[in-house]
Amino acid sequence: MIHSNLTRLRQQADAAIEAFLEQWPRAAGDGLYEPVHYLMELGGKRLRAVLALSAAEAEGKACEVAFPVALGVELFHNFTLMHDDIMDAAPLRRGQETVHIKWDENAAILSGDAMYTLAHLAMVQLPAEQLPKALKLFNQTALEVCLGQQSDMAFETRNDVTVAEYMEMIRLKTSVLVAASLALGAIAADASEERVKLWYALGEELGLAFQMQDDLLDAFGDEQVGKQLGGDILADKKTFLRLYTQEYGGDGARATLANWDGQRSNPAAKIEAIREAMSAAGAVDAAKELMHAHVAKAMASAEALGLEGSHLEWFQFLGGMVTQRTS
Ligand code: IPE
Ligand code: IPE
Ligand code: MG
Ligand code: MG
Ligand code: MG
Repeated sequence: MIHSNLTRLRQQADAAIEAFLEQWPRAAGDGLYEPVHYLMELGGKRLRAVLALSAAEAEGKACEVAFPVALGVELFHNFTLMHDDIMDAAPLRRGQETVHIKWDENAAILSGDAMYTLAHLAMVQLPAEQLPKALKLFNQTALEVCLGQQSDMAFETRNDVTVAEYMEMIRLKTSVLVAASLALGAIAADASEERVKLWYALGEELGLAFQMQDDLLDAFGDEQVGKQLGGDILADKKTFLRLYTQEYGGDGARATLANWDGQRSNPAAKIEAIREAMSAAGAVDAAKELMHAHVAKAMASAEALGLEGSHLEWFQFLGGMVTQRTS
């Protein structure tokens, strides 16, 4: 039952995205819309779109009322991925070459800009009563994502990053969009301001857990992840795994980390050495524990929203999916 709900919402999101993008068809060799269609057709989980549709349904409306915001958040998400892959020098996304590798960096910058613009063209399809509120949240979120991405990059060359700074960085780069996806779905369904805030709070906690699992998969996942494994380790990203290892792994672990910092010449050896230090320090278990604590907080918001029956079960399923996913 729950799996068929996922299939249904996913299909709704896919169909809405496909229909919307048909307005800007790819022309072979156009260099602008082709990369947009390329990345959008690779799909991914469509989590943000599914969340927007789910919140609208939980507010008692047909999921179609949330199509403009579902499109907005999903296009915005894909725009951030296209630029993030340049910033992270990432060769793989969803099991395929990233846009800046398949085309070039200029293509990824410009097609990303086009997707950001398309996200706004999707948003303005909302009814006039909801548009100002929704656009304000959408644009505040976009600014916060930029701030988070800026911290993520700045932390690469810092060695005094704290866990609190890491949590704030992932809240900004990832959680606020997950939170906004739910809140915008609720706004599209005409929910009260108080309920919109509760949806946002649910998403904020879910988003923290989501990024912690993303970090776990980057270091310890398999080819299902569809990204270069160990990319965060190579780039000296200050993930929770890394911070925990630095703090609790002892002098040996600290020496390993210091030795490899800034090195890109022997990627396989660097990734292996640091993965081992992380495992030995107990960082994986600690990360999972913290991740589950954030899912539990998200579920407390689901209860505060008064979700019941199949709606409550659905969000419990989503909470489990965030932490158990393998891609
Ligand atoms: C990847 O997001 C970027 C993060 C914020 C962690 P997803 O894991 O949702 O990527 P897709 O859209 O499913 O490919
Ligand atoms: C990306 O975080 C967050 C945004 C795109 C805003 P990551 O850099 O960890 O995402 P992936 O792992 O490349 O998908
Ligand atoms: Mg990144
Ligand atoms: Mg990245
Ligand atoms: Mg990642």
